Amino acid sequence: MFVIAQISDLHFDGGPDHRRRVAAVMDYLNGRCGGPRNIDALLVTGDVADEGLPEEYREALDALSTDIPMLMTLGNHDERAAYSAVVRGDECSEPVNSALHLSGLLILALDSSIPGRSDGYIARATLDWARAQIAESGPDTDVLVSFHHPAVPVGIPFIDDRRQLDPDLLAEFVAEHPNIVGCVAGHAHTPATTTFAGRPHVIAPGVASTLNLPFEGTDIVNAAQQPGVAFHLIDDDHRLTTHFRGVPA
Ligand SMILES: [Fe+2]
Ligand SMILES: [Fe+2]
Repeated sequence: MFVIAQISDLHFDGGPDHRRRVAAVMDYLNGRCGGPRNIDALLVTGDVADEGLPEEYREALDALSTDIPMLMTLGNHDERAAYSAVVRGDECSEPVNSALHLSGLLILALDSSIPGRSDGYIARATLDWARAQIAESGPDTDVLVSFHHPAVPVGIPFIDDRRQLDPDLLAEFVAEHPNIVGCVAGHAHTPATTTFAGRPHVIAPGVASTLNLPFEGTDIVNAAQQPGVAFHLIDDDHRLTTHFRGVPA
């Protein structure tokens, strides 16, 4: 069985509040390492920075220190050139995609950001890159696909107006690969589960904040909620099971 931790929407902005909330979840995750069962990977699904500034990515690199293998993808608050320059040491304005090949599991982190916009889109070139990664791993390897923008409405109008455009291309990609166990996203700042293209679609809690559902309150942010973590378990039957944890900050 594999254990993949996911955190999302860190929104580093140089201030103490978001920094404290990220530190709480990282302390929680790092405190789980070295025991009888380690966490195989940490997924950070976008909105790493609040304004896409280089200093925000330097802050993120410092705060996300961990021995857990980590993948990050970009959200609508991120900026490709600043992210790639600081995090990868190679400034680039193209979609930033990454893959982690484990024995028996492939984790894909796909860039759904659109420069200068709040909604999202996964480009054909990104999906072709993902196809090549899956082909390299082979048909018997489970695949967990991650990106920032949910591919379906989640019931929060503020987010649903900014969701992923044209998810039909992504649905075709998922349908081509029976070994995709599920898709995970962020952006909605709420722990949620739904389906997309007939597979599980899980949205991680927001670290920086949680958003209200329409019947919870009129404020966009639900200030009473703790930062959170998702733990994705992928078992020997290729089943994705997700547990959510709130972490006091
Ligand atoms: Fe966000
Ligand atoms: Fe976002």
